[in-house]
Amino acid sequence: MLVVTGTCTGVGKTVVTAAVAALAAARGASVAVVKPGQTGVAPGEPGDLDDVRRLAAVTDLHECARFPDPLSPAAAARRAGVPPLRLADVAARIRALAETRDLVLVEGAGGLLVRYDDEGATIADLARWLGAAALVAVRPDLGTLNHTALTLEAMAHRGVQPAGLVIGRWPQEPDLAMRSNIRDLETIAARPLAGALPAGAGSLDPAEFLVAAHRSLAPALGGSFDPAAFRDTYGPKENP
Ligand SMILES: Nc1ncnc2c1ncn2[C@@H]1O[C@H](COP(=O)(O)OP(=O)(O)OP(=O)(O)O)[C@@H](O)[C@H]1O
Ligand SMILES: [Mg+2]
Repeated sequence: MLVVTGTCTGVGKTVVTAAVAALAAARGASVAVVKPGQTGVAPGEPGDLDDVRRLAAVTDLHECARFPDPLSPAAAARRAGVPPLRLADVAARIRALAETRDLVLVEGAGGLLVRYDDEGATIADLARWLGAAALVAVRPDLGTLNHTALTLEAMAHRGVQPAGLVIGRWPQEPDLAMRSNIRDLETIAARPLAGALPAGAGSLDPAEFLVAAHRSLAPALGGSFDPAAFRDTYGPKENP
């Protein structure tokens, strides 16, 4: 089991989830992907799992609840006048899936501490109940160091084991802050980057996406990403 969380919404969790799923499926593993709470999508419209299906060609997909308003799952359920999703039920469903799958990936909604109900259950609770490590999708640009540090501190505080940082969208022409952030993200995480997906990966076809995923995720996630080479290529040159 692996939880994919992020420092915020829109940081590339879905693309990271699809990349991990694509690599696992390509080496013959059975992979299920779970989106406990999908918000901001009307019934019948494509959600995050449809992106995973399109990119990773994985079909074992499980959306537990959907709320149309683009809000946290707790707020969206409240506005829809329906009971919130119970993450305890989701945990039971994931445990059952894990009995017959090699890998179960779980994509949160928004960032780590987004609430699923009015009692304040979060994806961090779910990860801890499951004993699953959490991979953190992060932005590369100015502001990411604070968001990443806060997310990792909150994970440590809640007993969630980190599985590494993956930059969700690395542009072709990174600016100074992005280049400089590589080293500082690694310092904050006290480990090398677990990957960096190229900007544009989300619109590749499945064969191209698999190649990109392999290049962009570290060996622990089934790819060939080399964080030292990435740092050498993109890290800023020191001042003369
Ligand atoms: N590497 C990438 N290449 C191309 N597009 C990307 C990439 N990463 C993210 N995107 C795009 O950026 C947007 C936000 O990314 P994504 O939906 O993966 O974020 P998220 O962290 O999963 O957000 P949510 O909280 O809504 O689940 C999407 O439109 C997605 O297609
Ligand atoms: Mg998503």
